[in-house]
Amino acid sequence: MEKQINFLQIKKDNETHLEMASKLWMPFVKEVNEHDGTYQSEEQIIDGLKKRISIQGNRKDMHFEIAFLNGEPFGIAMFAIDLGTVYGLLEKGYGTIMGFYVHPNFRRKGLGTSFSNHIEATLYSDGARKMYVCPDPVTGEPFWKAIGYTDSGKFDPDDKKPIYIKEITNPFDLVNC
Ligand SMILES: CC(C)(COP(=O)(O)OP(=O)(O)OC[C@H]1O[C@@H](n2cnc3c(N)ncnc32)[C@H](O)[C@@H]1OP(=O)(O)O)[C@@H](O)C(=O)NCCC(=O)NCCS
Repeated sequence: MEKQINFLQIKKDNETHLEMASKLWMPFVKEVNEHDGTYQSEEQIIDGLKKRISIQGNRKDMHFEIAFLNGEPFGIAMFAIDLGTVYGLLEKGYGTIMGFYVHPNFRRKGLGTSFSNHIEATLYSDGARKMYVCPDPVTGEPFWKAIGYTDSGKFDPDDKKPIYIKEITNPFDLVNC
């Protein structure tokens, strides 16, 4: 069967979107917390998700999307033009990804790469010419390295994670939003 990938912008005050997002956001936060050796209760995770959804629509260059493969949700990501540019550590014009997840049943099939291509193309059209991420140490680092991100040598002052960067020269988005 042909592979069809689509994206849905999560809207605030939409219960169906919240329910779909929860099914991906919950295992995402639990997995990265486990990698980091931290813990949040399910209630805290859902509160955090609701806060993120509640700011959708405030800026046109802020996105929170669910990704589908042939109609089945497989991933979730929050991404934006970063106005603070990690407390001035980077110059202006960066796009950043604040949450990025592909469900384990869908991994190592190139879907994370397709999703990140879509994110880079979306932020490029919002004005970004560079990207930065603060990778998860277990699955994130090898993934971002494989798709061209490099260690800037700087660290996020909040969570002390390394900052990886990439120039967006030729954004490539094959899929529909
Ligand atoms: C990181 C993540 C999004 C990757 O998604 P994916 O759909 O498996 O990624 P892709 O299939 O596009 O992988 C592309 C390449 O990245 C590298 N890669 C991806 N996951 C990897 C892993 N766990 N270990 C080593 N290399 C990995 C490989 O080179 C891979 O190519 P290959 O499969 O041909 O070897 C997914 O593992 C995930 O959601 N992890 C938990 C959350 C997370 O870490 N998010 C990132 C936060 S910064």
